[in-house]
Amino acid sequence: MKLFYFLTPFPDMIYSVISESILGRADTKERVRFYIKNLFDFADPPHHRIDDYPFGGGAGMILKPEPVFRAFDEVIKELPANLKPRVIFPTPDGIGFNHNTAMDLVKSESIIFINGHYKGIDQRIRDELVTDEISIGDYVLTGGALPSLVIIDALVRLIPGVLNSYESAESDSFSHPLLDCPHYTRPASYRGFNSPSVLLSGNHKEIDDWKYSKRQQKTRDRRPDLWEIYNNIDNGRE
Ligand code: 6GU
Repeated sequence: MKLFYFLTPFPDMIYSVISESILGRADTKERVRFYIKNLFDFADPPHHRIDDYPFGGGAGMILKPEPVFRAFDEVIKELPANLKPRVIFPTPDGIGFNHNTAMDLVKSESIIFINGHYKGIDQRIRDELVTDEISIGDYVLTGGALPSLVIIDALVRLIPGVLNSYESAESDSFSHPLLDCPHYTRPASYRGFNSPSVLLSGNHKEIDDWKYSKRQQKTRDRRPDLWEIYNNIDNGRE
């Protein structure tokens, strides 16, 4: 069973997504377990502040080191002694997240997410605790909670036994360099818009050819980067 910890100023945000999604089902199935630590619980009384002004000036507040180091110590005490957790800090200046990063991270038996907010976090947290700084794309979000949830969702669905065979991760776009093809279901004709007749033909060879050419077409149109990879390294057919 894999163990995932979140050190966050917004525990309810993490909890609500986990409990409403496939992530909660994974927990129920005992494939993974989630633990959420509220950073405010580790801040000094009486004010329980977790942020402060930046040394050297500048705009915005910085997440203080003490609440994070203390919450981290508590997590380390809770973890089995031989487990070396990956410690992820989601940040727009991190390395880019993709399917390969997800496959690598999910090998780990335990992961700790440290969620900032504010302008930044004290660099000592990054230097001393964090093992992986990860960005989910070239845009800026208001905090680390959403990126952590994006990352955890992408990881957990790769764990065997979490998805049922219909949701299976193996046929995903990105486990193959071609994007997915269009899909249709009943009714065959809706408001005068028809499903492609080939899909109703029962001819499996023609259906496979249709799907494959749609995948190629979409990849060529939308993702020249993937199209190039596909043409260079993999002309194998799935
Ligand atoms: Cl990981 N964090 C924030 N705050 N913004 C982001 C991001 C992460 N990745 C892209 N934008």
